[in-house]
Amino acid sequence: MEDGYAALAGRLAGAAAEARRVVEEAHTREELEAARVRFLGRQGEITLVLRSLGKVPAEARPELGRLANEARAEVERLVEERSRALDEAELERRLEAEAVDITLPGTVPLPGTYHPLTLAWAEVERIFTAMGFEVAEGPEVETDWYNFQALNIPRDHPARDMQASFYFTPDVLLRTQTSPVQVRYMRSHTPRLPVKIIAPGRVFRRDDDATHSPVFHQVEGLLVDEGVTMGDLKGVLDVFAREMYGKLARTRFRPSYFPFTEPSAEVDVSCTLCGGAGCRVCGGSGWLEILGAGMVHPDVLRNGGYDPEVVSGFAFGMGIERVAMLRYGIDDIRLLYGGDVRFLRQFRPAGEGGDQA
Ligand code: DAH
Repeated sequence: MEDGYAALAGRLAGAAAEARRVVEEAHTREELEAARVRFLGRQGEITLVLRSLGKVPAEARPELGRLANEARAEVERLVEERSRALDEAELERRLEAEAVDITLPGTVPLPGTYHPLTLAWAEVERIFTAMGFEVAEGPEVETDWYNFQALNIPRDHPARDMQASFYFTPDVLLRTQTSPVQVRYMRSHTPRLPVKIIAPGRVFRRDDDATHSPVFHQVEGLLVDEGVTMGDLKGVLDVFAREMYGKLARTRFRPSYFPFTEPSAEVDVSCTLCGGAGCRVCGGSGWLEILGAGMVHPDVLRNGGYDPEVVSGFAFGMGIERVAMLRYGIDDIRLLYGGDVRFLRQFRPAGEGGDQA
């Protein structure tokens, strides 16, 4: 080979100088690896010098070998350093990209609130179950027999006019009241005593104006046992009124008429706003009507499979909308169906105890 000491030493110095520049300018891992291969790989420029040492004259070999080894060691070290520098730059970039600004304001989750009807419904259930009443249910799609006939309201009865109904067929309709649950429950539990239930749920009537919704909510109450009297009814409703409307709430019974009770009464509670003195809410009378009630008619007991000679019972029915309005001071029933969050947000957040926010 022509390669003498001077030529090899020159190649080595040139390769080393080039390696320093190329490694320094490597800005990616790929570029750095390419540089390493170019100088230190199996066909690398420095490697080839080392491999050709065998062909140089013996007296030049040690010195050239030392220079070549030094050049290789230097380039290895430079690659190593550059590699670490790239690692650090990469880490720096990631930290910057993933940085979280903990001084930014957080996103506050808006919890929903219970609808006042839900709150009133739950409160009614709480009060009556505490007195030993069981919560019962009936279907919203009801037969004419359960909704009317079993409750002493035959087809031509004028009471039907008060409850304009949604009919599917002449015999099937959306229930207009929760009262049919009285008969359903009695028939499926006779001869068990006492029958002591409340039945909350949706009811449907074909009127729709500013003060009536075609869908609204009622709670039915029924207590049947031996020796049940009107006094029991008054006692239970007094407890309800005080629990729902405050310790000072009183009740008043006015004679009324319902086909399924005899005698029947409409029950008032002392005005929740003025306490009975008379104000705008109670129209100056001091009283607010809250429900209908009475002693279960013998026909209804018979339709339920109970003997009116042996047992007696009381029943009552109230609108949950009315309860919610009186309890929470809501003066327009349309607020209950409007879905206006400015209104709804004023009530207790879902999932929290207590009654009102
Ligand atoms: N069902 C009646 C209505 O919707 C309310 C009612 C009145 C229910 C008297 C009763 C009752 O159980 O005894 O108007």
